[in-house]
Amino acid sequence: MFNKLLKRNTDLVLESGDRSVLISNEAVPAHIAIIMDGNGRWAKKRSLPRVAGHHEGMKTVRKVTKLANELGVSVLTLYAFSTENWKRPKIEVDFLMRLPEEFLTTFLPELIEENVRVEMMGYHHNLPLHTLRAIKKAKEATKDNTGLVLNFALNYGSRAEIVDAVKDIAAQVAAGTLDVCDINEDLISGGLMTKDLPEPDLLIRTSGEVRLSNFMLWQLAYTEFWFTETLWPDFNEDSLLEAIEIYQKRNRRYGGLKGDEVK
Ligand code: FPP
Repeated sequence: MFNKLLKRNTDLVLESGDRSVLISNEAVPAHIAIIMDGNGRWAKKRSLPRVAGHHEGMKTVRKVTKLANELGVSVLTLYAFSTENWKRPKIEVDFLMRLPEEFLTTFLPELIEENVRVEMMGYHHNLPLHTLRAIKKAKEATKDNTGLVLNFALNYGSRAEIVDAVKDIAAQVAAGTLDVCDINEDLISGGLMTKDLPEPDLLIRTSGEVRLSNFMLWQLAYTEFWFTETLWPDFNEDSLLEAIEIYQKRNRRYGGLKGDEVK
């Protein structure tokens, strides 16, 4: 049976083998969003400083990016730093601000080779110049790539994003260029940082926490959620495959009914 399935995926060369092949024969989520949580606890369990957990978490980013791209996922959005994370100790914030630079410097050749396109959503203000420079360089170097969009949510906050979209709409109404009757969901979606991306199909949060923490509140309206106890640095290819397998068994109805349910 595997050979038959493999034949249908001749252009797919995956080390993870049969499981990945089977997954890719079902509907693969086009957009996966991940709240990468548990780095601090991972470090604490090993009597290491919290930042060691973040550094290990960066290695998970690489693994997950590689597999998502191979599986044919279109967009992977990773919550790397929220607008609330500035409340953390300066030493931790400084470290977190160095990580995109380290990741993109180390892995840019690999991302280019793998046809991955780097994007960022979030507020540029407050971000250090070195972080912005690393992202700008990676975006520029990968802008023509057609594979996975690796979208870092950095200094991102969903409520602020919605407020900004609403302010923009209000300004248009005040200027007389927009009629209140023409305000609709598409207009709000079009004012968000995700305006060029599909809405997430699957949201993953690691470490056993079950909340959204101001992440893509509008965009997740019909997203399937999967929570795992696994701490982000321990999350691996098998974890991602498990999440997708569970997603593929879900019955997405978008508020309607399907097949036999309509009776
Ligand atoms: C939450 O875990 C994690 C973060 C706030 C940072 C996430 C960042 C990474 C995984 C590295 C990102 C890598 C790149 C390439 C940008 P936590 O510290 O709140 O964990 P805890 O709840 O166990 O304390």
